Amino acid sequence: MLLAKTDEEVELLRLNNDLVSRTLAEVARHIKPGVATKKLDRIAEEFIRSHGAEPGFLGYNGYPATLCISVNDAVVHGIPSSYELHEGDIVSVDCGTYLHGFYGDSAFTFTVGEVSPEVQRLLKVTRECLDLGIEAAVDGARVGDISYAVQSHAESNGYSVVRELVGHGLGRHMHEKPEVPNYGARGSGPKLVDGLVICIEPMINMGTKHVYQDVDGWTIRTRDGKPSAHFELAIVVRKGKAERLSTFSYIEEVLRF
Ligand code: MF3
Ligand code: CO
Repeated sequence: MLLAKTDEEVELLRLNNDLVSRTLAEVARHIKPGVATKKLDRIAEEFIRSHGAEPGFLGYNGYPATLCISVNDAVVHGIPSSYELHEGDIVSVDCGTYLHGFYGDSAFTFTVGEVSPEVQRLLKVTRECLDLGIEAAVDGARVGDISYAVQSHAESNGYSVVRELVGHGLGRHMHEKPEVPNYGARGSGPKLVDGLVICIEPMINMGTKHVYQDVDGWTIRTRDGKPSAHFELAIVVRKGKAERLSTFSYIEEVLRF
C-alpha cells in the first residue's frame, strides 16, 4: 500500500517543484554554444539559494553539484564541468531543491543551436512518453500502467528504454516508494492512490538500451554512444487526472524568444 501525502505536504512539494521549474527556466536562458556546464550549475545554485532553498542534489550520496547535466550519449547524472556546449548537442538538465523539509525534482532535455531532425524526433517522442505516463497515473491504476505507457510509445517509435534507472516517489526524501520503471506490464505493480506524489522520468535511447557508468563514478552513458533523452516531472495522483507539481511552461516561455 502506497502512502498518500496530506494537502499540507502537497503544498510544500508544490513550492519545491515550482522552484525547480523556474530554476530550469533560468538555466534555459543561458544554454548556448560555448557555455561551460559548470557555469549553468552556478547559475542554478545561486537561483535556488536566492529563493531561500537548498540544492537538493548537492551532497546527496556524495553528489558534488546542484545540477546533473548530461550531454548527448550521457543519459543522466552527468557532473557539471569545464565542457563547453557545442552546436548540435542535446543536454539533459536535472534539478533538485530542498525547502521546508521536502524535495523538488525535475528534468528537461534542451537543444543547443540547430540539432538534427533525428535527434529532434527523439526529444519529441520522449516528451510524449512522459505525457502518456502522466495520463496513466490516476487513482486506482497501477505503477505498471505508467511503465507500459512509456515503454510502448518509445519502442513503437524505434527507441529503447533504459532499465537501470527509474522514476520514484517524492517527499521528505528524494527517492521514496514506489519505484516507477519506464518499462513493464499493464496492471502490474503497486496500486496508485489519490495523493501519492511521484516523479515520472523516461530515459529513452536512440540506439541500444544498454548503459554503463563513466569512470567519474556518476555519469551514465549509452553503450553505443548514441544520444539519450530525459524528461522528468513531479505529479500528484488524483482521481481521473494527475495534478502536475512541476511544469515546463516557464522553460517554454524562455525558449519562445
Ligand atoms: N534527479 C535524479 C532522480 O531523478 C536524482 C539525482 S541524484 C544525484 O532520481 F545524486 F545525482 F544528485
Ligand atoms: Co527523479
